[in-house]
Amino acid sequence: MNDPDENQLDAIANALIECGYVVMDKLVPEDLLKSLLTHLNGLHCDVFKPAGVGRQTDFHVQENVRSDKIHWLESDKQPTAEFLQFMEALRIGLNRRLFLGLTDYESHFAHYPAGAFYKKHVDAFRENRERNQSLEIQSNRVLSTVLYLNENWQADSGGELILYRATGEQVLEKILPELGRMVIFLSEKFPHEVLPATRERNSIAGWFRVNH
Ligand code: OGA
Ligand code: MN
Repeated sequence: MNDPDENQLDAIANALIECGYVVMDKLVPEDLLKSLLTHLNGLHCDVFKPAGVGRQTDFHVQENVRSDKIHWLESDKQPTAEFLQFMEALRIGLNRRLFLGLTDYESHFAHYPAGAFYKKHVDAFRENRERNQSLEIQSNRVLSTVLYLNENWQADSGGELILYRATGEQVLEKILPELGRMVIFLSEKFPHEVLPATRERNSIAGWFRVNH
């Protein structure tokens, strides 16, 4: 009932083919967004950990690179279960259209206090997949997704996601982290960064992965 519809899936698939990324504003249903916001507000700040600690999936991350705190999503509560179900439908819909062979999805809430940042990086490295099996967790990320959970975000609040061209220098797009906006991009292709904001900035960052 909540799943992305065929037109939305077509639009995402076409944009990924043509540009390698897409910004969607009304993909996730409003009631799901609202319940994710309520869930997020109810989470104790203790559950948020510095990125890179715990599940060790952020091997390239150091404190001077990013200053957000994260909390991994699980299907233990209704809102997160519904969101993961929505992303599962997205995974299947994109596999049907793009033959990406995506096998699963991992995601975490990310909380950036005012002034926090994530310096320019890429989410996956193709070389690692070929050269070093031990880096498998990181290198099997194919598609990155970020869903923003910030009500009434203003243009002068900062906190933009900057997407760079694959070559790494030219800015491709600056994206404000507005409630309900979802950015999807090829993990290996686009260097990106999060600029500091004047207020706290919340999101769900996630990755569709393959099993090799
Ligand atoms: C990440 C990331 C972007 C954003 O978590 O890897 O790049 O806009 N997030 O929050
Ligand atoms: Mn990233």
